[in-house]
Amino acid sequence: MDIRALAPEDLGADYDLMVRAFGPRDQAEFLRRSRPAVRQGRVLGIYDGDRLVASARYHLFDQWWHGRAVPMGGVAGVAVAPEERGRGVGRRLAYALLDFMDGLPISALYPATAPVYRSVGYEHAGAQHFVTVPAEALRTLDAGPVKVRRVGPDDAADVAAMLRRLHADARDRGPIDRGEDFFHDLLDRDDIFGYLAEDGLLIYGWSADGQELSVQRCAAGSPETARALWALVGSGSSIARSVRACVAPDDPMFWLLRDRSTEDVHRVSWMLRVLDAPAAVAARGFPAGLSAEVPLTITDEARPGNTGAWRLSVDGGRGTLTRTDGAPDALRLSARSLAALYAGVPLTRLRRSGLAEGDASTDAILDAAFGGAPYMLDYF
Ligand SMILES: CC(C)(COP(=O)(O)OP(=O)(O)OC[C@H]1O[C@@H](n2cnc3c(N)ncnc32)[C@H](O)[C@@H]1OP(=O)(O)O)[C@@H](O)C(=O)NCCC(=O)NCCS
Repeated sequence: MDIRALAPEDLGADYDLMVRAFGPRDQAEFLRRSRPAVRQGRVLGIYDGDRLVASARYHLFDQWWHGRAVPMGGVAGVAVAPEERGRGVGRRLAYALLDFMDGLPISALYPATAPVYRSVGYEHAGAQHFVTVPAEALRTLDAGPVKVRRVGPDDAADVAAMLRRLHADARDRGPIDRGEDFFHDLLDRDDIFGYLAEDGLLIYGWSADGQELSVQRCAAGSPETARALWALVGSGSSIARSVRACVAPDDPMFWLLRDRSTEDVHRVSWMLRVLDAPAAVAARGFPAGLSAEVPLTITDEARPGNTGAWRLSVDGGRGTLTRTDGAPDALRLSARSLAALYAGVPLTRLRRSGLAEGDASTDAILDAAFGGAPYMLDYF
């Protein structure tokens, strides 16, 4: 079997693979979205002679890590023809994708099944969180006189810029920058409503069944604006009894509500892979007040450039990874535990799940450097 970039003339066969793997979809829309990815060499095919037996693609995103945007390959549409499954084709495809994304520091994906991705060094990192709250609880927030204006497709650049500013200021971990085209298409829909404030943004609409209001983005740089935007959504409480919102696990909204007890939260997990460890460390942000040097050893069979003894230095909000001769009994990480640590999983958890070994004396420093629950607001 051959592994190569998908040829444009194979998009029909790729569509057939997608339908067999993920169910019916609009062919014209699939082709419209796929053509640029194929042109840019972001779709990978496994061929048996001329027959396409598997394919996968990646998106080029920026992902926020402690307030800095890190280039990320967002893997999607991994599909093996049903008659070829269970013979190692999926793993070969996932492995080949790592090389295909060479040059990117990190990759992330939403797994339908984890073993195939774990076997090439991805690990569970964060989640997309959906919380359902009574619309009335939002309506009754004390809104105040915050000015908001309606936005549409022509405001996509302002919307994208506002989100970048808010994610950077909040030192967010995990959300991706969807860019202007995405917001142009989203705000062009009749059933999606957008509002901008001086320091905030709201994008929401009706759920598919028309029973609930569904919030895609609600972000604000101040409590006044947060209250105003959430109250705007809650003003629909006479028709929509509940609001389903995609938010950070520690979104300010949870602290604005007058009352909280049991929350209905739905989590969709995503996994992370560090493709180029020095580049991934250099690109992200770290806590500004932290200054530390930590020796560590990484073993990464699929990306040998990551393997070896390193010194992590953190200072002034930036980090570097420098090769060393090695320190005795330094913390030992695999590709999977490096990914989980990068995403903020505490070292005690990694040790207790058998993912990290070696010197524990620097664990608290590493937790301070990387710690925090990442999230995403977009499925891809
Ligand atoms: C998931 C999929 C890509 C796997 O491809 P494959 O060629 O069958 O996978 P492989 O034979 O290389 O198996 C790799 C590992 O994944 C495991 N695996 C494969 N399919 C699985 C499934 N449906 N559920 C759980 N584990 C699975 C295998 O057991 C193997 O792990 P192991 O070696 O530890 O036993 C394929 O089944 C498929 O196209 N499914 C439909 C679309 C889909 O779910 N895509 C993933 C989107 S994220």
